[in-house]
Amino acid sequence: MKKSLLFILLIAVALLFLFIYTENMGKTTEKKQAAHYFKRDASSLLSPDRFLIIAHRGASGYAPEHTIEAYKKGEELAADYIEIDLQMTNDGRLVAMHDIDLGRTTGEDGEVREFTLDELKDFDVGTWFNQSNPELAEPVFAEQSIPALEEIFDTFGHEANYYIETKNPKYYPEMAKELIRILDAYNLLGETVDEGKVIIQSFSEQSLREIHDVEPSLPLIQLISFDDEAKLNKRAIRNIKHYAVGIGVNYQAITKDFAGKIHKADLLLHAFTVNEKTEINRLKEFGITGVFTDYPDILKTRQEVIP
Ligand code: G3P
Ligand code: CA
Repeated sequence: MKKSLLFILLIAVALLFLFIYTENMGKTTEKKQAAHYFKRDASSLLSPDRFLIIAHRGASGYAPEHTIEAYKKGEELAADYIEIDLQMTNDGRLVAMHDIDLGRTTGEDGEVREFTLDELKDFDVGTWFNQSNPELAEPVFAEQSIPALEEIFDTFGHEANYYIETKNPKYYPEMAKELIRILDAYNLLGETVDEGKVIIQSFSEQSLREIHDVEPSLPLIQLISFDDEAKLNKRAIRNIKHYAVGIGVNYQAITKDFAGKIHKADLLLHAFTVNEKTEINRLKEFGITGVFTDYPDILKTRQEVIP
């Protein structure tokens, strides 16, 4: 009896030591958390006090998604960011495209990765929009082609802020490396660039960690899609904080409690994709820090946006 009591006592002490050790491990790694690399003061796009409007696939409610015209519209409507989904071509070029397949936006068979950039340039990505939205149709939309990432940077330079998603990184193992190379070539990396000018997002933790390891000065957002109410335990939050400054979550899953928990954890919380003004205002009251929307002027009148 005495022996078994002693055994239980020993186990309890061991568990106590283990608990103290893991808690302290958390504190010592605190310095290495992603937020450590940023000031996040009031002027920063990464400030927890800002509410960001991200033009989802460009202002894709007004112009065909992921075209130069959609991005121009996003800029015209004073979005804080233009959002760019990346795919990779057969000749290793990064292009803005949401789907792996060409069908929905070009009407062509096949996948982006089967074609070179030159070949993709023959396809128009705006006719479908004109046909689906006759009231918004414009001849110039039917002339739009899939833009290479360089073409977007050539057009908008340092005027725009870019919120870039690495899509399907398992398909494209070279994507992260090529993205960093291009950002560097366009002077969109490093201390001379406004904090948060470029944000990288992904559903793939592996892709984000790969970027964080090479370029910790790039702010990263972990995308998560919840089937039901959004929930993350302490361990999951701590893990995300090592490489990301925030999370992007499908808006339907966000509750007041969840938003409060993420805020308390000092992570940004961006909701996708919200096209209802009342819904955005509800989420704002929860304290979220940004929203992806197809209508970047949704919270403003046209007069406020274009005086
Ligand atoms: O990147 C946030 C949001 O855009 C994710 O949804 O499918 O539009 O890329 P999706
Ligand atoms: Ca996206």
